[in-house]
Amino acid sequence: MARLAIVTGGTRGIGRAICEKLQADGFTVVANYAGNDAAAGQLKADTGIRCYKWDVGDHEATIAGCARVAEEVGPIDAVVNNAGITRDAVLHKMSYDDWHEVMRINLGGCFNMAKACFPGMRERGWGRIVNIGSINGQAGQYGQVNYAAAKSGIHGFTKALAQEGAKFGVTVNAIAPGYIDTDMVAAVPEPVLEKIIAKIPVGRLGHAEEIARGVAFLCSEDAGFITGSTMSINGGQHMY
Ligand code: CAA
Repeated sequence: MARLAIVTGGTRGIGRAICEKLQADGFTVVANYAGNDAAAGQLKADTGIRCYKWDVGDHEATIAGCARVAEEVGPIDAVVNNAGITRDAVLHKMSYDDWHEVMRINLGGCFNMAKACFPGMRERGWGRIVNIGSINGQAGQYGQVNYAAAKSGIHGFTKALAQEGAKFGVTVNAIAPGYIDTDMVAAVPEPVLEKIIAKIPVGRLGHAEEIARGVAFLCSEDAGFITGSTMSINGGQHMY
């Protein structure tokens, strides 16, 4: 029987590319999303992938949402923690709400999803968790103390949970994307983005599919000896 993967923030951008790649690789895939019903409807229409709406930063909603997926589709074998937001501002202009929302969703979402899904993986003796970090969690980024802290936290979270999952056949890894051609990156002011692209040795933004291929490998049977690692996919912008 096909294994079941859930991708948070799975209806657009990198998340959608991950859903499509995992489906092509033989997983049954469900997508979680927070708000954009039109994008969810489009994904469902194009691929048949079922979409479940809840805020991954909300602990109770995440536990209930994953229980619903398990009941309606089956036990969750793979989790891709992709959901994330930016609230960029220099520290002296950043509000507490900007800080807290990014921590709640980007880092808290990983904890909430793991609380919901890791115990079952552990009991069944197989699981894959892939957390989407960021180059900006590795290197820092002007205007992103919230995002860089949350993404950096994801890398620590990954290494800690990997140690807990290892003897139960559950691998936990991270991918650190660089600047990828998505709506999130398109929101960076053009002159700032031009300067960033000039620093990417490969000379271009990445594509969502290039992240999806890395995620799919880490979710595969072939990656069973890889755990606690971070795969950087950034065109050479930061060599970590
Ligand atoms: N290093 C040093 N100085 C910088 C700088 C940098 N990287 N970026 C901007 N500055 C300077 C500017 O030159 C400017 O200096 P002057 O006042 O002396 O001219 C000063 O900082 C203020 O810059 P802004 O006018 O841009 O300030 P702002 O308050 O309007 O905006 C900002 C600040 C919101 C942080 C804006 O610069 C910005 O959006 N930067 C992009 C941040 C970024 O890369 N976000 C990534 C989003 S994509 C993502 O996160 C996905 C992923 O994982 C990779």
